[in-house]
Amino acid sequence: MSLTGKHVLSSELFDRDELERLFSLADLLVPVARGRKVARVLEGAVMASLFFEASTRTRLSCESAFLRLGGGVLSCTNAELMSISKGESYADTSRVVSGYCDLMVVRHPDDDAVHEFMAATNVPVINGGNGAGEHPTQALLDMFTLHREFGRDGRGLDGRRVALVGDLRYGRTVHSLINLISLYEDLTIVCVAPAHLGMPVALLERAEMRGHRIELSESPEIALKDADVVYATRLQTERFGGGPVSYGEEFRIDKSLVSRVCRADTVIMHPLPRDSRAGSNDLAMDLNSDSRLAIFRQTDSGIPVRMALFASVLGVAEQIPDALRPATWYRPEYTGPDDAPFYRNTAL
Ligand code: NCD
Repeated sequence: MSLTGKHVLSSELFDRDELERLFSLADLLVPVARGRKVARVLEGAVMASLFFEASTRTRLSCESAFLRLGGGVLSCTNAELMSISKGESYADTSRVVSGYCDLMVVRHPDDDAVHEFMAATNVPVINGGNGAGEHPTQALLDMFTLHREFGRDGRGLDGRRVALVGDLRYGRTVHSLINLISLYEDLTIVCVAPAHLGMPVALLERAEMRGHRIELSESPEIALKDADVVYATRLQTERFGGGPVSYGEEFRIDKSLVSRVCRADTVIMHPLPRDSRAGSNDLAMDLNSDSRLAIFRQTDSGIPVRMALFASVLGVAEQIPDALRPATWYRPEYTGPDDAPFYRNTAL
């Protein structure tokens, strides 16, 4: 399968070979993401990012990835300032903007809007998150993080116990992630959520049909024991329509819970943002110095993975090995002051 010219709306587009091909490319691009090398294979290309919903990571990392490959970026973050507020359709907006760019990344609170954008253009549309539907590029970076975490010690991902925790009903990242992770083999996937926030049944059935063991639990205390991966999520309050939906303190993943139940080599992930306000029962800040916490390795992975995806969709992936050359500017060895133990044994 070739990704060239493809729209990327769903994680269902990918098979395991395609994932592993993207990861090899992303491995090559890590030094570009870290400002050690340049590879200007997208010189002259233009990406438009159209974000109709809040975003820090997805928009900025897509834009950074495109810029680092030598392309240019048009960024639109306020629907009020677009002609959609004058009644223009998504179809017209998409057709118009696609005349100004070579690829579009679209995020929208409605599940269907990205499909309307796609139907109106031949320029590749990348789903940057559609309502409570999917977030395929986040799942790609989550899988790349796992590829590096488990590749580092020569351990593979096959046969692992993976706990998905929190709001599995409205959290779009876990919908894409369960699709991609189940391309691997012989997993135990534990969905840990209150009954009203459980993983959609169709997604559980697909993973089960691929031969994985599915367990459902409402208790992180019990379900996190022996997990190789704990993937926590934020309560998607903006999708509840004002309803009083929440979960209790038992869903707070903090130092005390992790030291009681997790193993020394458990990988702890979260797509971010985590809600760090008092009373929120999200992934806690008191784990920040714990090297099992992979959250910033995840965010850093967003750049090489999205570079690999854009290069593939725009048909320049094969040019990358020859295009790599050293960067000339100063860049500190580690991005954050605490990154040294964080990037233990990982080649920069
Ligand atoms: C997520 C999203 O927007 O779905 N954020 C992200 O892109 N990393 C998760 C969330 O908002 O909870």
